Amino acid sequence: ALARRIDRPIVLVGMMGTGKSSIGRRLATLLHLPFVDADEAIEEAAQLTIAEIFERHGEAAFRDGERRVIARLMDGANVHERRKVIATGGGAFVNPETRALILSKAITVWLDADIDTLVERTARKNTRPLLRQGDPREILTRLREERRPAYAEAPIHITSGRGPQARTVARVLKEID
Ligand code: S3P
Repeated sequence: ALARRIDRPIVLVGMMGTGKSSIGRRLATLLHLPFVDADEAIEEAAQLTIAEIFERHGEAAFRDGERRVIARLMDGANVHERRKVIATGGGAFVNPETRALILSKAITVWLDADIDTLVERTARKNTRPLLRQGDPREILTRLREERRPAYAEAPIHITSGRGPQARTVARVLKEID
């Protein structure tokens, strides 16, 4: 019943390492909706990896492309096309224009996690240019504090703890109902 009532994209925002992509994928499966990873869509559009975009064009250009790709993903000719789950990169919702766009068109869910979880999860994959600039724990701690006010604009807040992801997914489902 819940799945049928959804008429807008569900957009997951929050720090790198909170599990936006894996939680999003599980959520989409349960709701029988398509799942899209915005970072992957950006890489496909640019035919470059995120790291290459940062290296060659800089972060500002990445943020601009990110906003355009997310805008396109959220749009659809009809309700059917708009029904999907989108995981965004951690900085997307911090960009004021992208944030306004997401808030106006989506059901926005902020996923948060403690710093140890972020450090542990991001260490599994060394693809994030922002974490190559110094000590990952320091960078994550700083970004998490700086970005908190932006993320807090999302109407739904979920803490993704160390427990099973299924529990986090269940919390999200409860909140969007
Ligand atoms: C970023 C997070 C990344 C990716 C890019 C920048 C950020 O996405 O978009 O490396 O600014 O927090 P994930 O949150 O999926 O790691």
